[in-house]
Amino acid sequence: MEAWLALIRDKLEQPFIILYLREADTETLLKALRLGVQECFIKEIPAADFDKTINRILKTRKGLEAGEKTKIMAVLGVKGGIGVTFLALNLAQALVTLKQPTLLIDLDLSPAGLVSAIDMKPRYSILDIINNFDRLDPQYLKDILHGLPDGLQVLPGPDQLEDFELVQAYHVEKILQYLRVQQLFSWLVLDLGDSLNEITLKSLEQADLILVVITLTVPGLKAAKKVLEVLEMLHLDDKRLRLVANAYDKKSKVTPEEGEKYLSHKLVAALSFEPEAVWHSLNEGRPLVASQPKQRLASQIIALARSLQTGEEQENPRFSWLMSWLPRRR
Ligand SMILES: Nc1ncnc2c1ncn2[C@@H]1O[C@H](COP(=O)(O)OP(=O)(O)OP(=O)(O)O)[C@@H](O)[C@H]1O
Ligand SMILES: [Mg+2]
Repeated sequence: MEAWLALIRDKLEQPFIILYLREADTETLLKALRLGVQECFIKEIPAADFDKTINRILKTRKGLEAGEKTKIMAVLGVKGGIGVTFLALNLAQALVTLKQPTLLIDLDLSPAGLVSAIDMKPRYSILDIINNFDRLDPQYLKDILHGLPDGLQVLPGPDQLEDFELVQAYHVEKILQYLRVQQLFSWLVLDLGDSLNEITLKSLEQADLILVVITLTVPGLKAAKKVLEVLEMLHLDDKRLRLVANAYDKKSKVTPEEGEKYLSHKLVAALSFEPEAVWHSLNEGRPLVASQPKQRLASQIIALARSLQTGEEQENPRFSWLMSWLPRRR
């Protein structure tokens, strides 16, 4: 059996193997599992169970349309606490709303991770992928991912502080490449937090879009300038780069135009400061764009996701489509 299964795995790409055995003991079953068998029928094959299995294969295998590519959107903050996680989560959810199968990956390996921003108790994390990379297949991957009720899939970071260092940049690179090849998602949205380390730099290298989150405050702009300088030094300030201001409010001392001038970069959006709506969504444990899609900030994020997805913001970088929502300064 071993040689035969090895041959199948070598000859076919990601085969879904169903094994039929007249009789089996635990040892044989464990061996089959280790060799990559996904389903096992023993003695008889009940029609209903067989149908279920076939449907499961079809569902697992249903990836993107032919020719469609998996794209990576990296979300990076210029400093802590400015809404990177909130934005990554809501942009990813907005893409789902726009019928784009999306996976949100938490690569901000710090204690205040994604899990605290949304109501979820994941059973698995990126460590389970790292530890089982050799036997990774689409079904196993789907079992590890955490599906949120509104359709977004999430890959959480490790939940123990001491496990953070087990995630290495080359793991992240391998996982992103694997996910691209599998073509299960239109978008991979990465929450990179606000630090430039080996993991986040590797992610930025792989990204199709780099969304840098800034705030329109004096310290925020100074931090943004430094980050943009580093990205420029690393040649990551190319046409993939997009700047977005978050939590902009009419009391802000700096206007979007002044921010653009200071940074010599256009903004693709200035998202408004909406503590009440955000507070409600946190309390509900759901992304704002799913719980209140008509709310102002939610609509801005959906519009931003749409423009990033279609690339139209490049033709119209002055975000006139968002200006209409902005609170006017008196
Ligand atoms: N536009 C907004 N209006 C009001 N509140 C916001 C807005 N964006 C984010 N917040 C809130 O600000 C707080 C910080 O946001 P978040 O945790 O997403 O920031 P972060 O940059 O990921 O922080 P960290 O450095 O801890 O990772 C959260 O309570 C979030 O809900
Ligand atoms: Mg965060």
